[in-house]
Amino acid sequence: MKHRITPIDRERVMREEDFIVSKTDAKGRITYANRIFMEFAGYSEPELLGGQHNIVRHPDMPRSVFKFMWETLQAGQEFFGYVKNMASDGSFYWVFANVTPTRNERGETVGYYSVRRKPRLDAVAAIAPVYAQMLAKEQQAGPKQAIAASRGILEHGFQSRGVTYEEFVLAL
Ligand SMILES: Cc1cc2nc3c(=O)[nH]c(=O)nc-3n(C[C@H](O)[C@H](O)[C@H](O)COP(=O)(O)O)c2cc1C
Repeated sequence: MKHRITPIDRERVMREEDFIVSKTDAKGRITYANRIFMEFAGYSEPELLGGQHNIVRHPDMPRSVFKFMWETLQAGQEFFGYVKNMASDGSFYWVFANVTPTRNERGETVGYYSVRRKPRLDAVAAIAPVYAQMLAKEQQAGPKQAIAASRGILEHGFQSRGVTYEEFVLAL
């Protein structure tokens, strides 16, 4: 089911002590969400379980951030990043996310686990314009070229600060 929610300019701000936690199966379908997840996303447990994690995807997020996330996870590594999410009422909430693959004893990925905490305000202020630039590039390039077009900004967008996205994210 495709969700048609109109984004609204209202922010939900995480509290210092909050952790938004979810687990998915290997295909990215939600198998667990904690209460704080339900509070921020504005969905009940039955609405979340079994569904895809893009239920909270915000249209302001560039596609190549998620591409980068999935590539990182599929390479068996953990992902750290800033994500703007959308709640069921269209409001948004920024998170600092860590996503890790869960492996069985044979080393096969059987699912994913994500913990998000309140992002630093200065980090969001730095990331938001970079994401906006990436999104504009993706829209200009059209769906086929979108990811290639904006990937360069993710990789080089922090050059003026002398760091990569990963270094920027992990320095906090
Ligand atoms: C454990 C886990 C947590 C995720 N958390 C989020 C999230 O908080 N927000 C989000 O937009 N996508 C999240 N994703 C990525 C989504 O599965 C999806 O790739 C993304 O929303 C892009 O949607 P699309 O593939 O429909 O373009 C998560 C994926 C996994 C495996």
